[in-house]
Parts: sequence; C-alpha cells; structure tokens
Amino acid sequence: MAQATGALARERRYGKTQRRDRWWLEPVLVATGLGAFIAYSTVSALLGEHWAFEVGPYLSPFFEPLIRPDWLPDWFSPALFILPAPLAFRTTCYYYRRAYYRAYFMSPPACAVREPAGSYSGESRFPLVLQQLHRFALYAALVFVPVLWFGALRSYWHDGELGVGLGSVLITVNAFLLMMYTFGCHSLRHLVAGGLNCFSCSTFRQARHRAWRFVTVANEHHRLWAWTSLIGVGLTDLYIHLVANDVITDPNTWGSF
Ligand code: FES
Repeated sequence: MAQATGALARERRYGKTQRRDRWWLEPVLVATGLGAFIAYSTVSALLGEHWAFEVGPYLSPFFEPLIRPDWLPDWFSPALFILPAPLAFRTTCYYYRRAYYRAYFMSPPACAVREPAGSYSGESRFPLVLQQLHRFALYAALVFVPVLWFGALRSYWHDGELGVGLGSVLITVNAFLLMMYTFGCHSLRHLVAGGLNCFSCSTFRQARHRAWRFVTVANEHHRLWAWTSLIGVGLTDLYIHLVANDVITDPNTWGSF
C-alpha cells in the first residue's frame, strides 16, 4: 500500500512524464525566441528618436504609420502609439497562448507532461479572462494590413523617382507576412463564415464561403506565419535602424539617401 502511494506521488510530480522524446525542446526554443523578440522590440520602441528609425523612403514597421505631432516631447517614442494594437493581437493569439503558457508558465510544459500542482481555472478568471478580447484586437490588427502595404508601396518612391532597394524588398515581405498572419487568425475565420449552415443559399453566403476558403489557407499554417512574421518584423526594423544610423549601406537604384 505504502509502495503504491509512493509510486502515485512520483507519477504526480511536476514535470513527470513517460515520454522519451525531447519534449522540452519546443518550450525552450519558444522561450528563447519570444524572449529575444520582446527584449529587442522593447529597446527599439522605447529609444524612439534616439535611434533613427526612418531613412529615405523607409520607415520602420514599429513606427508605421508615423504619428508625431509637434507637441510630442522628445522622450516619448512614436512607436508607443502603434505597438499596443499588434501587442494585444499577439499576446491574445490562440497559437501564442499555447506557446507561452508552455514556455513561461509550464502549464503544462508539454502534452502528457505533469504540470505544477494547483487548481486550474482556465481563462475564466482575471487576468486570463482578458484573453477573450482577442476578437477586438483582431479588428485593430486588420487596420494595420493596408497601412503596412501603403508603407511598402511608398518605399519604392524616393525624391520623385521610382526605384527599389533591399529595404523596399524587406518592407514588402514584412507586409506580406503580417498580412498572412492576420488573415490566418482563428477569430477571423469564425467571423467570415462561422455559424453558417449553408454556403450556397445566397450570393452573399457564397462570397463568405470564398473568403472562408482563403482565410483557411492562411489559418492552416498559422504557427508558421506567427513565427515568420515575428522574425520578419524584427529584422526589418533592425535593418532600417542600421541603414538610418549609417552602420550599413542600403543597395538601391537611387544611389544613396
Ligand atoms: S488566433 Fe492567432 S492571431 Fe488570432
């Protein structure tokens, strides 16, 4: 009896599992990747005017669209007007919730791995109940899709001349990745055609079905878009900072800025 109780206690120990694969690898990679992005983006956004973020036709995506009224003090970074929306969108994203619950809260660390003892209340209590606001974060994120594409198109126009540079290409790729991440949102998929029992009953429903199929294509690889867009936006921001601060030179058809 005592032996059975001891065995049961061991089975319930935090981190206990019968899995023999490297289940810990994914949480470690997620914690490292997300941690690096959070640290970099915080520094980049807070430095604001103290670390140039625009040059020629390029504007860092952390600052797009640029909101810089005359009354804004130097110490206030214009990125702070922009970042709350994408931040809310990412932190409440269904995929990221799964990823950072595992990586940072170990709740659970992985499938079939014992999580810390304690009562589980899901996302029904404060503060996690705020995750239910994801749909509203989606509305804000959707506004940024055309805004980022506008910034991408603008990056091909400098001093009245059409041209292309490495920065234009990066900004365009970034707009595409963020669009695919946003359009693959589970809430959007539900919004466009969730709850419809008949896709062919009217022209409007057929249009919703087409939209649903498009969203589904992006949704099937939501994790891929989540990571590529995260890495893409960070690298684009870093590249523009380096060019704007004369650390590197942007190869482009305009010659120089
Ligand atoms: S579920 Fe990931 S962005 Fe909506």
